[in-house]
This record gives sequence, C-alpha cells and structure tokens, in this order.
Amino acid sequence: MIIKLSNGKELPVEMHKARMVQKITLTPAEERLKAIQEAGYNTFLLKTKDIYLDMLTDSGVNAMSDNQFAGFMNADDAYAGSMTFYEFADAVKDVLGYQYVMNVHQGRAAEHLLSKIFAKPGGAVITNYHFTTTKGHIELTGGSACLELYADEALKTKSTHPFKGNMDIQRLKDAIKKWGREKIGYVRMEATTNLLGGQPFSMENLKEVRKICDQHNLLLVMDGSLISENAYFIWKREKGYENKTIAEIVKEMAGLADIFYLSGRKNTCVRGGFIASNKKDLMEKLEPWLPFYEGFYTYGGMSMREIGAMTVGLREMVDPSVAGCSIEQIKYFVEKLDGMGIPVVTPPGGLACHVDARKFVSHIPKEQYIAGALTAALYITSGVRAMERGTISTDRDKDGKEVYADLELTRIALPRRVYTISHIEYIIDRLQWLYNNRELIKGLKFVSEPPVLRFFLGKLDALDNWGRKLGDAFKKDFGGNW
Ligand code: F0G
Repeated sequence: MIIKLSNGKELPVEMHKARMVQKITLTPAEERLKAIQEAGYNTFLLKTKDIYLDMLTDSGVNAMSDNQFAGFMNADDAYAGSMTFYEFADAVKDVLGYQYVMNVHQGRAAEHLLSKIFAKPGGAVITNYHFTTTKGHIELTGGSACLELYADEALKTKSTHPFKGNMDIQRLKDAIKKWGREKIGYVRMEATTNLLGGQPFSMENLKEVRKICDQHNLLLVMDGSLISENAYFIWKREKGYENKTIAEIVKEMAGLADIFYLSGRKNTCVRGGFIASNKKDLMEKLEPWLPFYEGFYTYGGMSMREIGAMTVGLREMVDPSVAGCSIEQIKYFVEKLDGMGIPVVTPPGGLACHVDARKFVSHIPKEQYIAGALTAALYITSGVRAMERGTISTDRDKDGKEVYADLELTRIALPRRVYTISHIEYIIDRLQWLYNNRELIKGLKFVSEPPVLRFFLGKLDALDNWGRKLGDAFKKDFGGNW
C-alpha cells in the first residue's frame, strides 16, 4: 500500500508481517569474485550460500501466507478424486470464471501441451512478446514460427507509455492476411510481458485483439502468470477502471480468453500451474495428453499440498495489497534509480527492476554479452543475484548464428513479500557505485555453450580478467570487506 508522507512523498508499506524468517549472509567481495568465476559468470550457477539477496526471479520463491500454509497442511493426498482438486476448481471458477481446469506441473508444461495440440507445424503463433520457454515450445513442440507483434514503443526502454505490452493491432491484421487464418495456431497475450520488463497491456487492447480473433475465428490464449499485476496496472493506469476492484478486472480479462494458463509460481505464490477454459471441446483435446505428460486429472503433476496452497493463493492474488506489493516496491526502486540518472526500464513494470544494460555499459560491443556482464558485475559488487535477460537468454538460430536480443536487461526480480525497502536501498547504493565505475566492466565470452536455453547452464569467462579488476577496485573503496 502507498502511504503519503508528511513531506509530500510516497512510501510503499507492506501489508503483511514476517512470522518466520530465513537467515542470509553477505560474503566478502573476494569470495563473491571466486564464486562467480566458478559459476562461469552465470548467476544461475551460483550457490545460495554465496548469495545475499536472491533476486534471480520471482518464480517459486515468493512468501506464502499463513492461510496458504494452512491449505498446504489440510490437503487431501489422494492420487485420484482428491477433494483438494475440486476446491481448487471452485476457486478457478470464482476468481477467473472458468468451468474447466487441469493442473500441470508448471507454466512451461502448459505451453508444451498447448503448442503440441494447437500450434500448426509450418504455421505461426502470434504473441505480444515471447517468453523463453513459450517460444521454445512454439518452435520445437509446435513446429511453428513465433511472431511477436508488439508496438514500436515496447522496445523503448525509457518511456512514459502506460501499456508497452500492447499488441500492435495493425500488425496483427497484416499477419493474419499474410499467413492466412488456417496457418495460425492461436494468438497469445502475455499479461504482463516478462521480457519487455514486466510491461502490461490495456483492457482496451485486449478487447481489440478479442474482436479480431472473433472476426477470423482464431483462438485467443492468455498467459496469466502475472495477471493480477497486469490488472493492478489497469486499475492504476487505464481510464474507466479506477473504481473497479482488482477481482473485477482479473475476471474481465480472463473472460476475454478462450484458453487461459499460468505458472502458479508467480501470482499464486506456489509451485505448479494450470490450464483453464469455458470451452469443453478445447479442453477435451488436451485431456488425453495430461496423464501422459503430467499426471492424473486431479493432480496434473503437482503435489496435492501445492494445489491446496494454490487455491488460497488464487483467491488472495486479487487483494490489491497482494497484487500490488511488488509493483509498488519496484516503482520506488525504479524511480529512485531513474532520478539518479541510472538507466532503467520506465515506466516501472511488474516482477522486477530492469536495468538497461545497453545504456549502462554502452562501451561493451553487442557480441560480448552486455547484460550478462552487468549482471555478473552487480553480483561481485553486492552479493545480489539478478538475471541476464538479453542475448545470452536468446538462443542461436538454426544455422548457429548469434541472434542479438531486442533488449539487454539486467533483471533484479522482487519476489512477493520477501524483501524490504532497506534491501532495495542497499542495491541502489551498490548500483550507483557500479555506475560510477562502469568502465571497469568488460565483455564475456562463452567457454561452454548448450544448444538450447543456453542461459541456464552455459559458462562464460571475463575478457581481460575484468572481474578481478572490478573486485579489487570495490575492495579498495570498501576496505576489503563488503
Ligand atoms: N510464462 C511467463 C510469462 C513466465 O514468466 C514464465 C516463467 C513461464 C510462462 C513459464 O513458467 O517457469 O512455471 O515453467 N518465468 C520465470 C521467470 C521462469 O523467472 O521469469 P514456469
């Protein structure tokens, strides 16, 4: 929640309190340098004992509420016919308005099933922007091209556009004309667009996309992994929605999609996912494959306990203090950095503070993994684990040629209800030091590179041993310690 202070400024305050905590440690800079070298300058390969603030992702690492833990403990562990599943299905109906639902073990499992059944080999799937696993499944499982029809504004990192996640309606019409309805598997709207910096789409845009899908008899699929956050932005930014509740906005959004899926690791603060719809015929196409790839119909690869906690999480995610808790922290974080002249993605989005690495370390050439270098440098100077979202996260093309990402971002994710404003203040200070010393950061080169989703397990090295030089400069300024 936002509190107006007596000096006129705003402060995001938490509407929850910590009732259980986990100890974390901040290892000295020298040890951090050793850890990142051993991890091949890839923050995915760090061990948590070496991490102070784990801001790699907001996925599966959110704080569950006390009521979610109660749901976890009360779950009915049956292999088939568990009442916990039916209670979950009731919550899906109440919150999203869908009659039919099936669990899957996580978001990408939904993407696997959807692209297997609905993508058309040799055809295309249209989306406002891709996510790594989504694109992978559309191309590999579905054999389709992944067309990203974002508006020009989406790639401007400094912007005041409130809905950079919108689909460009003219480009959508052109694509349908070019490919023909028969070759398009489905149209996918991601609420909010992860790789564009957690940027939302507007309800107006979603309605226009729906209209066009109706005109051409195309399926509209919504990735609702971050739906409550997209709804929060609509509430805050879109005319006509200021007096609606988050619950009403979420339901209206969901009502516009033929098929809905989500990674429950985000908004519902558990580990799992699901696919839902009001169209029985569509769900029946997916059903035979569910026990084959995921698990029996009433658990779909999730533990019943997680489904119990997901039921509560689904109902809680439409509470504005839950939907907005990370968003308001991110806004505080981004606006402070922006005010200091440190390049960040604006307007502030959901899920993370995104640093614009292309501007931060503009001296690094695009062949040398700009965002990867900045992400490793942030770890060396702070113990904060962020994630590279740039060219390393974009696999090579079929001919093995490098594909340079649209954006080079260092994503500092804000897991829900986990970190505080003092943690954010600490990162702001370290980012400022890093910005003043940015010339010390140089590029990276691969030493071992997996063929797909290389960002997970790939190992790199610092050109000209810059990691050591940066670490030494940091130690000099901070007395050799933190
Ligand atoms: N869709 C979106 C928009 C996502 O952000 C993610 C995951 C997925 C699908 C896949 O879901 O991980 O449960 O299989 N995003 C995570 C992240 C991994 O760190 O942003 P999953």
